[in-house]
Amino acid sequence: MLRFLKPIFASSIIFLGASFLANAQDVEAGKKVFNKCRACHAVGEGAKNKIGPHLNDLFGRPAGTLEKFKFSKAMKEAGSQGMLWGDDTLSQFITKPRKFIKKTKMSFSGLKNEKQRVDLISYLKQFSEAQAVPNAVDEPASKEQKTPKKQSSSNVILGKKAVALTSVVLARDVEIPKHGMLHLGRVALTEEVSAWDIDIRPDGKGLPAGKGSVAQGELIYVENCAVCHGDFGEGVDRWPVLAGGQGTLQEDRPEKTIGSYWPYLSTVYDYVRRAMPFGNARSLSDDDVYALTAYLMFLNDIVEDEDFELSKENFLDIRLPNEANFIDDNRRQEPHYVEKLEPCMKDCKTGIASVILRARVLDVTPDNEGKKEGE
Ligand code: HEC
Ligand code: HEC
Repeated sequence: MLRFLKPIFASSIIFLGASFLANAQDVEAGKKVFNKCRACHAVGEGAKNKIGPHLNDLFGRPAGTLEKFKFSKAMKEAGSQGMLWGDDTLSQFITKPRKFIKKTKMSFSGLKNEKQRVDLISYLKQFSEAQAVPNAVDEPASKEQKTPKKQSSSNVILGKKAVALTSVVLARDVEIPKHGMLHLGRVALTEEVSAWDIDIRPDGKGLPAGKGSVAQGELIYVENCAVCHGDFGEGVDRWPVLAGGQGTLQEDRPEKTIGSYWPYLSTVYDYVRRAMPFGNARSLSDDDVYALTAYLMFLNDIVEDEDFELSKENFLDIRLPNEANFIDDNRRQEPHYVEKLEPCMKDCKTGIASVILRARVLDVTPDNEGKKEGE
Protein backbone atom coordinates (compact mmCIF):
# COMPACT_ATOMS: atom_id res chain seq x y z
CA MET A 1 0.00 0.00 0.00
CA LEU A 2 1.11 3.49 -0.69
CA ARG A 3 0.96 6.52 1.46
CA PHE A 4 1.84 9.82 0.00
CA LEU A 5 2.59 13.22 1.38
CA LYS A 6 0.25 16.03 0.49
CA PRO A 7 1.04 17.54 -2.87
CA ILE A 8 2.32 20.76 -1.33
CA PHE A 9 5.53 19.22 -0.27
CA ALA A 10 5.64 16.33 -2.63
CA SER A 11 7.97 18.48 -4.69
CA SER A 12 10.63 18.48 -2.02
CA ILE A 13 10.43 14.73 -1.83
CA ILE A 14 10.94 14.21 -5.53
CA PHE A 15 14.40 15.63 -5.28
CA LEU A 16 15.59 13.13 -2.74
CA GLY A 17 17.44 11.81 -5.74
CA ALA A 18 20.41 9.59 -6.17
CA SER A 19 22.75 11.39 -3.84
CA PHE A 20 20.38 10.99 -0.91
CA LEU A 21 20.88 7.30 -1.26
CA ALA A 22 24.60 7.63 -1.15
CA ASN A 23 26.24 6.44 2.00
CA ALA A 24 29.75 5.98 3.15
CA GLN A 25 29.87 2.47 1.69
CA ASP A 26 28.93 3.66 -1.78
CA VAL A 27 31.63 6.27 -1.60
CA GLU A 28 34.20 3.64 -0.63
CA ALA A 29 33.08 1.37 -3.46
CA GLY A 30 33.10 4.33 -5.83
CA LYS A 31 36.69 5.04 -4.94
CA LYS A 32 37.62 1.57 -6.23
CA VAL A 33 35.62 2.07 -9.41
CA PHE A 34 37.52 5.28 -9.97
CA ASN A 35 40.64 3.16 -10.52
CA LYS A 36 39.29 2.71 -14.03
CA CYS A 37 39.54 6.44 -14.60
CA ARG A 38 42.67 7.19 -12.62
CA ALA A 39 45.08 6.66 -15.47
CA CYS A 40 43.62 9.69 -17.19
CA HIS A 41 41.87 11.71 -14.47
CA ALA A 42 42.90 13.07 -11.11
CA VAL A 43 40.53 14.25 -8.40
CA GLY A 44 40.98 15.65 -4.89
CA GLU A 45 43.35 18.16 -3.43
CA GLY A 46 45.91 19.46 -5.87
CA ALA A 47 44.50 17.41 -8.75
CA LYS A 48 46.01 18.34 -12.11
CA ASN A 49 44.94 17.65 -15.65
CA LYS A 50 46.38 14.45 -17.04
CA ILE A 51 45.31 12.80 -20.28
CA GLY A 52 41.86 13.90 -19.23
CA PRO A 53 40.78 16.99 -17.27
CA HIS A 54 40.82 16.96 -13.45
CA LEU A 55 37.39 16.17 -12.02
CA ASN A 56 37.20 18.56 -9.06
CA ASP A 57 34.04 20.68 -8.99
CA LEU A 58 32.65 18.66 -11.82
CA PHE A 59 29.02 18.78 -10.73
CA GLY A 60 27.17 21.75 -12.17
CA ARG A 61 30.02 22.53 -14.54
CA PRO A 62 29.21 22.88 -18.22
CA ALA A 63 30.95 20.22 -20.34
CA GLY A 64 34.32 21.05 -21.84
CA THR A 65 34.87 24.37 -20.10
CA LEU A 66 37.90 23.83 -17.87
CA GLU A 67 40.26 26.57 -19.04
CA LYS A 68 43.58 24.81 -18.99
CA PHE A 69 42.50 21.64 -20.72
CA LYS A 70 42.28 21.14 -24.45
CA PHE A 71 38.90 19.54 -25.00
CA SER A 72 37.62 18.10 -28.23
CA LYS A 73 35.36 20.25 -30.34
CA ALA A 74 32.50 17.87 -29.56
CA MET A 75 32.86 18.31 -25.79
CA LYS A 76 33.09 22.10 -26.03
CA GLU A 77 30.06 22.17 -28.24
CA ALA A 78 28.03 20.12 -25.76
CA GLY A 79 28.94 22.65 -23.06
CA SER A 80 28.05 25.66 -25.15
CA GLN A 81 24.69 24.10 -25.82
CA GLY A 82 23.98 24.00 -22.12
CA MET A 83 25.00 20.52 -21.07
CA LEU A 84 26.01 20.42 -17.41
CA TRP A 85 27.64 17.57 -15.54
CA GLY A 86 25.24 16.08 -13.01
CA ASP A 87 24.11 12.63 -11.91
CA ASP A 88 22.23 11.91 -15.06
CA THR A 89 24.53 13.34 -17.72
CA LEU A 90 27.57 11.83 -16.05
CA SER A 91 25.94 8.45 -15.75
CA GLN A 92 24.96 8.44 -19.40
CA PHE A 93 28.37 9.63 -20.51
CA ILE A 94 30.35 6.99 -18.65
CA THR A 95 27.96 4.23 -19.68
CA LYS A 96 29.19 4.65 -23.21
CA PRO A 97 31.09 7.87 -23.82
CA ARG A 98 30.96 7.83 -27.59
CA LYS A 99 27.29 7.09 -27.69
CA PHE A 100 26.52 10.12 -25.55
CA ILE A 101 29.00 12.53 -27.10
CA LYS A 102 29.81 11.09 -30.48
CA LYS A 103 33.17 12.66 -31.15
CA THR A 104 34.59 12.91 -27.66
CA LYS A 105 38.27 12.16 -27.47
CA MET A 106 37.86 10.23 -24.24
CA SER A 107 38.75 6.71 -25.23
CA PHE A 108 37.05 4.68 -22.60
CA SER A 109 34.81 1.83 -23.56
CA GLY A 110 32.21 2.43 -20.85
CA LEU A 111 30.93 1.28 -17.53
CA LYS A 112 27.88 -0.94 -17.96
CA ASN A 113 27.25 -1.73 -14.32
CA GLU A 114 24.70 0.68 -12.87
CA LYS A 115 25.69 0.13 -9.26
CA GLN A 116 29.28 0.93 -10.12
CA ARG A 117 28.21 4.12 -11.83
CA VAL A 118 26.10 5.18 -8.86
CA ASP A 119 28.98 4.48 -6.48
CA LEU A 120 31.45 6.28 -8.69
CA ILE A 121 29.18 9.31 -8.87
CA SER A 122 28.83 9.40 -5.07
CA TYR A 123 32.59 9.28 -4.83
CA LEU A 124 33.16 12.07 -7.35
CA LYS A 125 30.51 14.24 -5.76
CA GLN A 126 32.63 14.64 -2.66
CA PHE A 127 34.97 16.78 -4.65
CA SER A 128 32.32 19.15 -5.91
CA GLU A 129 31.28 22.36 -4.17
CA ALA A 130 28.22 22.88 -6.32
CA GLN A 131 26.44 20.08 -4.51
CA ALA A 132 26.15 22.55 -1.64
CA VAL A 133 26.46 19.59 0.67
CA PRO A 134 30.08 19.22 1.66
CA ASN A 135 31.04 15.71 2.68
CA ALA A 136 31.29 16.92 6.26
CA VAL A 137 27.60 16.05 6.66
CA ASP A 138 27.99 12.57 5.30
CA GLU A 139 29.92 10.66 7.84
CA PRO A 140 28.89 11.95 11.23
CA ALA A 141 25.32 11.76 9.99
CA SER A 142 25.37 8.09 9.24
CA LYS A 143 27.11 7.31 12.51
CA GLU A 144 24.70 9.28 14.62
CA GLN A 145 21.59 7.78 13.17
CA LYS A 146 19.87 5.83 15.87
CA THR A 147 17.51 3.85 13.70
CA PRO A 148 19.08 0.76 12.23
CA LYS A 149 20.26 1.16 8.64
CA LYS A 150 17.86 -1.41 7.34
CA GLN A 151 14.89 0.62 8.35
CA SER A 152 16.01 3.97 7.11
CA SER A 153 16.85 2.65 3.68
CA SER A 154 13.47 1.01 3.35
CA ASN A 155 11.85 4.38 3.71
CA VAL A 156 13.23 5.80 0.55
CA ILE A 157 10.36 7.13 -1.44
CA LEU A 158 11.77 7.24 -4.92
CA GLY A 159 14.20 4.90 -6.58
CA LYS A 160 17.71 5.55 -7.77
CA LYS A 161 16.46 6.80 -11.07
CA ALA A 162 15.45 10.14 -9.56
CA VAL A 163 17.57 12.93 -10.90
CA ALA A 164 19.22 15.51 -8.69
CA LEU A 165 18.50 19.17 -9.20
CA THR A 166 21.87 20.00 -10.60
CA SER A 167 21.71 17.43 -13.33
CA VAL A 168 19.75 19.48 -15.79
CA VAL A 169 19.82 17.40 -18.89
CA LEU A 170 19.57 19.26 -22.11
CA ALA A 171 21.54 17.00 -24.36
CA ARG A 172 20.59 13.37 -24.51
CA ASP A 173 20.55 11.69 -27.82
CA VAL A 174 19.04 14.71 -29.52
CA GLU A 175 20.95 16.90 -31.87
CA ILE A 176 20.79 20.40 -30.46
CA PRO A 177 21.21 23.39 -32.76
CA LYS A 178 24.21 25.62 -32.02
CA HIS A 179 22.18 28.37 -30.38
CA GLY A 180 20.58 26.05 -27.83
CA MET A 181 17.59 23.78 -27.82
CA LEU A 182 14.94 26.47 -27.31
CA HIS A 183 16.88 29.30 -28.94
CA LEU A 184 16.68 31.00 -25.58
CA GLY A 185 18.67 31.87 -22.52
CA ARG A 186 22.06 30.85 -21.25
CA VAL A 187 23.56 28.35 -18.87
CA ALA A 188 22.64 29.17 -15.24
CA LEU A 189 25.48 30.54 -13.14
CA THR A 190 26.77 28.49 -10.23
CA GLU A 191 25.40 31.19 -7.91
CA GLU A 192 21.98 30.89 -9.48
CA VAL A 193 21.98 27.14 -9.12
CA SER A 194 23.01 27.32 -5.48
CA ALA A 195 20.31 29.91 -4.72
CA TRP A 196 17.74 27.35 -5.85
CA ASP A 197 19.51 24.40 -4.37
CA ILE A 198 18.21 24.73 -0.81
CA ASP A 199 16.61 21.37 -0.27
CA ILE A 200 17.28 19.52 2.95
CA ARG A 201 17.21 15.77 2.84
CA PRO A 202 16.21 13.22 5.42
CA ASP A 203 19.84 12.20 5.86
CA GLY A 204 20.71 15.77 6.82
CA LYS A 205 22.26 16.79 3.53
CA GLY A 206 21.76 20.47 2.95
CA LEU A 207 21.25 21.48 6.60
CA PRO A 208 22.86 24.84 7.25
CA ALA A 209 24.95 25.49 10.35
CA GLY A 210 22.92 26.90 13.22
CA LYS A 211 20.78 26.22 16.27
CA GLY A 212 17.72 27.36 18.14
CA SER A 213 15.79 26.33 21.25
CA VAL A 214 12.13 25.59 21.94
CA ALA A 215 11.87 28.73 24.07
CA GLN A 216 13.33 30.94 21.34
CA GLY A 217 11.10 29.27 18.81
CA GLU A 218 8.01 30.05 20.85
CA LEU A 219 8.71 33.79 20.68
CA ILE A 220 9.26 33.71 16.93
CA TYR A 221 6.21 31.53 16.46
CA VAL A 222 3.91 33.82 18.42
CA GLU A 223 5.09 36.79 16.34
CA ASN A 224 5.05 35.19 12.91
CA CYS A 225 2.94 32.09 12.81
CA ALA A 226 0.25 32.03 15.48
CA VAL A 227 -2.12 34.36 13.59
CA CYS A 228 -2.77 31.57 11.14
CA HIS A 229 -1.69 28.37 12.83
CA GLY A 230 -2.94 29.18 16.34
CA ASP A 231 -0.95 29.48 19.57
CA PHE A 232 -0.66 25.72 19.95
CA GLY A 233 -0.64 24.75 16.29
CA GLU A 234 -4.37 24.05 16.42
CA GLY A 235 -5.02 26.20 13.33
CA VAL A 236 -7.13 29.38 13.28
CA ASP A 237 -10.27 29.07 11.13
CA ARG A 238 -9.27 26.92 8.23
CA TRP A 239 -5.51 27.54 8.25
CA PRO A 240 -3.51 24.33 8.52
CA VAL A 241 -3.23 22.51 11.84
CA LEU A 242 0.40 21.90 12.81
CA ALA A 243 0.11 19.73 15.89
CA GLY A 244 -1.93 16.85 17.27
CA GLY A 245 -3.82 14.19 15.38
CA GLN A 246 -1.74 11.33 16.80
CA GLY A 247 -3.57 8.05 16.43
CA THR A 248 -6.09 9.34 13.88
CA LEU A 249 -4.47 8.02 10.72
CA GLN A 250 -6.77 5.03 10.45
CA GLU A 251 -9.93 7.00 11.06
CA ASP A 252 -12.26 8.16 8.31
CA ARG A 253 -10.96 11.70 8.66
CA PRO A 254 -7.34 11.43 9.72
CA GLU A 255 -5.70 14.56 11.04
CA LYS A 256 -2.38 14.70 9.33
CA THR A 257 0.18 16.88 11.08
CA ILE A 258 3.91 16.99 11.57
CA GLY A 259 3.52 14.85 14.68
CA SER A 260 0.95 12.39 13.43
CA TYR A 261 1.93 11.95 9.82
CA TRP A 262 5.14 13.50 8.49
CA PRO A 263 8.01 11.04 8.08
CA TYR A 264 11.03 13.32 8.45
CA LEU A 265 11.93 16.34 10.50
CA SER A 266 14.03 17.58 7.58
CA THR A 267 10.79 18.33 5.73
CA VAL A 268 9.72 20.68 8.53
CA TYR A 269 12.95 22.61 8.32
CA ASP A 270 12.94 22.63 4.53
CA TYR A 271 9.30 23.65 4.25
CA VAL A 272 9.33 26.41 6.86
CA ARG A 273 12.53 27.89 5.47
CA ARG A 274 11.28 27.70 1.90
CA ALA A 275 7.66 28.78 2.29
CA MET A 276 6.77 30.32 5.66
CA PRO A 277 5.55 32.70 6.97
CA PHE A 278 2.98 32.52 4.21
CA GLY A 279 3.31 35.69 2.14
CA ASN A 280 6.75 36.51 3.51
CA ALA A 281 8.74 33.44 2.61
CA ARG A 282 12.54 33.38 3.03
CA SER A 283 12.42 36.13 5.65
CA LEU A 284 13.64 33.93 8.53
CA SER A 285 17.26 33.28 9.47
CA ASP A 286 18.61 29.74 9.60
CA ASP A 287 18.73 29.96 13.42
CA ASP A 288 15.08 31.13 13.46
CA VAL A 289 14.12 28.06 11.48
CA TYR A 290 15.98 25.76 13.88
CA ALA A 291 14.15 27.40 16.79
CA LEU A 292 10.77 27.13 15.05
CA THR A 293 11.39 23.51 14.15
CA ALA A 294 12.24 22.84 17.81
CA TYR A 295 9.04 24.59 18.89
CA LEU A 296 6.94 22.60 16.43
CA MET A 297 8.46 19.43 17.89
CA PHE A 298 7.49 20.69 21.32
CA LEU A 299 3.92 21.35 20.20
CA ASN A 300 3.81 17.80 18.88
CA ASP A 301 5.21 16.26 22.10
CA ILE A 302 8.29 15.04 20.33
CA VAL A 303 10.43 16.92 22.84
CA GLU A 304 9.21 17.98 26.24
CA ASP A 305 11.90 20.30 27.53
CA GLU A 306 11.58 24.02 26.73
CA ASP A 307 15.36 24.34 26.98
CA PHE A 308 15.88 21.76 24.28
CA GLU A 309 18.07 23.18 21.56
CA LEU A 310 17.95 21.83 18.03
CA SER A 311 21.07 22.22 15.89
CA LYS A 312 22.67 20.87 12.79
CA GLU A 313 24.63 18.52 15.06
CA ASN A 314 21.74 16.81 16.84
CA PHE A 315 19.16 17.09 14.06
CA LEU A 316 19.41 13.47 12.95
CA ASP A 317 18.88 12.17 16.47
CA ILE A 318 15.25 13.15 16.13
CA ARG A 319 12.95 10.69 14.39
CA LEU A 320 9.28 11.36 13.79
CA PRO A 321 6.83 8.71 15.03
CA ASN A 322 5.30 7.90 11.65
CA GLU A 323 8.54 7.40 9.73
CA ALA A 324 8.30 3.62 9.50
CA ASN A 325 4.94 3.79 7.74
CA PHE A 326 6.42 5.37 4.65
CA ILE A 327 7.57 2.75 2.19
CA ASP A 328 9.22 2.46 -1.18
CA ASP A 329 7.23 3.58 -4.14
CA ASN A 330 6.80 0.13 -5.64
CA ARG A 331 3.90 0.80 -7.98
CA ARG A 332 5.84 -0.60 -10.90
CA GLN A 333 5.89 -3.97 -9.18
CA GLU A 334 2.17 -4.04 -8.51
CA PRO A 335 0.32 -6.70 -10.52
CA HIS A 336 -1.78 -4.43 -12.69
CA TYR A 337 1.33 -2.62 -13.88
CA VAL A 338 3.53 -5.64 -14.30
CA GLU A 339 0.90 -7.73 -16.05
CA LYS A 340 -0.66 -4.75 -17.78
CA LEU A 341 -4.07 -5.69 -16.40
CA GLU A 342 -7.22 -3.69 -17.00
CA PRO A 343 -7.59 -1.16 -14.17
CA CYS A 344 -11.19 -2.26 -13.53
CA MET A 345 -11.21 -5.69 -11.88
CA LYS A 346 -14.87 -6.61 -11.44
CA ASP A 347 -18.34 -5.50 -12.51
CA CYS A 348 -16.65 -3.52 -15.23
CA LYS A 349 -18.86 -1.35 -17.38
CA THR A 350 -19.09 -2.41 -20.98
CA GLY A 351 -19.26 0.12 -23.74
CA ILE A 352 -18.56 3.83 -23.48
CA ALA A 353 -19.14 5.49 -20.10
CA SER A 354 -21.47 8.48 -20.05
CA VAL A 355 -22.88 10.85 -17.40
CA ILE A 356 -26.35 9.68 -16.34
CA LEU A 357 -27.02 11.67 -13.15
CA ARG A 358 -25.84 14.90 -11.55
CA ALA A 359 -24.82 14.95 -7.89
CA ARG A 360 -27.14 17.93 -7.47
CA VAL A 361 -30.13 15.87 -8.44
CA LEU A 362 -29.03 13.09 -6.13
CA ASP A 363 -29.16 15.69 -3.35
CA VAL A 364 -25.61 15.19 -2.23
CA THR A 365 -24.81 18.89 -1.89
CA PRO A 366 -25.96 20.60 1.33
CA ASP A 367 -29.57 21.73 1.57
CA ASN A 368 -29.40 25.47 1.06
CA GLU A 369 -27.53 25.17 -2.23
CA GLY A 370 -29.40 22.11 -3.37
CA LYS A 371 -32.78 23.77 -2.96
CA LYS A 372 -31.93 26.83 -4.98
CA GLU A 373 -30.44 24.88 -7.84
CA GLY A 374 -32.56 21.78 -7.86
CA GLU A 375 -36.07 23.18 -7.42
C1 HEC B 1 42.10 6.78 -21.54
C2 HEC B 1 41.92 8.01 -20.78
C3 HEC B 1 40.59 8.21 -20.09
C4 HEC B 1 39.91 7.35 -19.25
C5 HEC B 1 40.28 5.92 -18.86
C6 HEC B 1 38.77 8.09 -18.78
N1 HEC B 1 38.76 9.35 -19.32
FE1 HEC B 1 37.39 10.80 -18.97
N2 HEC B 1 38.28 12.00 -20.30
C7 HEC B 1 39.42 11.70 -21.01
C8 HEC B 1 39.66 12.75 -21.99
C9 HEC B 1 40.80 12.78 -22.98
C10 HEC B 1 38.63 13.69 -21.83
C11 HEC B 1 38.35 14.94 -22.68
C12 HEC B 1 37.25 14.50 -23.66
C13 HEC B 1 36.95 15.50 -24.75
O1 HEC B 1 37.43 16.61 -24.72
O2 HEC B 1 36.18 15.09 -25.64
C14 HEC B 1 37.79 13.19 -20.77
C15 HEC B 1 36.67 13.87 -20.29
C16 HEC B 1 35.92 13.47 -19.22
C17 HEC B 1 34.87 14.24 -18.63
C18 HEC B 1 34.40 15.62 -19.05
C19 HEC B 1 34.97 16.66 -18.11
C20 HEC B 1 34.60 18.07 -18.47
O3 HEC B 1 35.09 18.96 -17.79
O4 HEC B 1 33.83 18.29 -19.40
C21 HEC B 1 34.38 13.50 -17.60
C22 HEC B 1 33.25 13.88 -16.67
C23 HEC B 1 35.13 12.27 -17.55
N3 HEC B 1 36.05 12.29 -18.54
C24 HEC B 1 34.93 11.28 -16.63
C25 HEC B 1 35.58 10.04 -16.67
C26 HEC B 1 35.33 8.97 -15.74
C27 HEC B 1 34.35 9.05 -14.57
C28 HEC B 1 36.13 7.94 -16.10
C29 HEC B 1 36.19 6.56 -15.48
C30 HEC B 1 34.96 5.80 -15.45
C31 HEC B 1 36.90 8.36 -17.24
N4 HEC B 1 36.54 9.63 -17.54
C32 HEC B 1 37.85 7.58 -17.87
C33 HEC B 1 40.20 10.57 -20.86
C34 HEC B 1 39.85 9.45 -20.13
C1 HEC C 1 -0.87 34.12 6.68
C2 HEC C 1 -1.07 32.83 7.25
C3 HEC C 1 0.17 32.01 7.61
C4 HEC C 1 1.21 32.38 8.43
C5 HEC C 1 1.46 33.68 9.11
C6 HEC C 1 2.06 31.21 8.50
N1 HEC C 1 1.55 30.18 7.77
FE1 HEC C 1 2.25 28.29 7.69
N2 HEC C 1 0.84 27.81 6.35
C7 HEC C 1 -0.13 28.68 5.85
C8 HEC C 1 -0.81 28.05 4.74
C9 HEC C 1 -1.88 28.68 3.88
C10 HEC C 1 -0.26 26.77 4.59
C11 HEC C 1 -0.58 25.72 3.55
C12 HEC C 1 0.09 26.14 2.29
C13 HEC C 1 -0.23 25.24 1.13
O1 HEC C 1 -0.99 24.30 1.29
O2 HEC C 1 0.33 25.52 0.05
C14 HEC C 1 0.74 26.64 5.64
C15 HEC C 1 1.48 25.49 5.88
C16 HEC C 1 2.39 25.36 6.88
C17 HEC C 1 3.02 24.12 7.23
C18 HEC C 1 2.72 22.77 6.60
C19 HEC C 1 1.49 22.20 7.27
C20 HEC C 1 1.02 20.90 6.67
O3 HEC C 1 0.83 19.95 7.42
O4 HEC C 1 0.82 20.87 5.46
C21 HEC C 1 3.92 24.41 8.22
C22 HEC C 1 4.83 23.42 8.93
C23 HEC C 1 3.83 25.81 8.48
N3 HEC C 1 2.90 26.37 7.66
C24 HEC C 1 4.59 26.49 9.42
C25 HEC C 1 4.54 27.85 9.60
C26 HEC C 1 5.44 28.59 10.45
C27 HEC C 1 6.56 27.97 11.28
C28 HEC C 1 5.09 29.89 10.38
C29 HEC C 1 5.75 31.08 11.05
C30 HEC C 1 7.12 31.33 10.70
C31 HEC C 1 3.94 29.98 9.50
N4 HEC C 1 3.65 28.73 9.03
C32 HEC C 1 3.25 31.15 9.24
C33 HEC C 1 -0.40 29.93 6.33
C34 HEC C 1 0.40 30.63 7.20
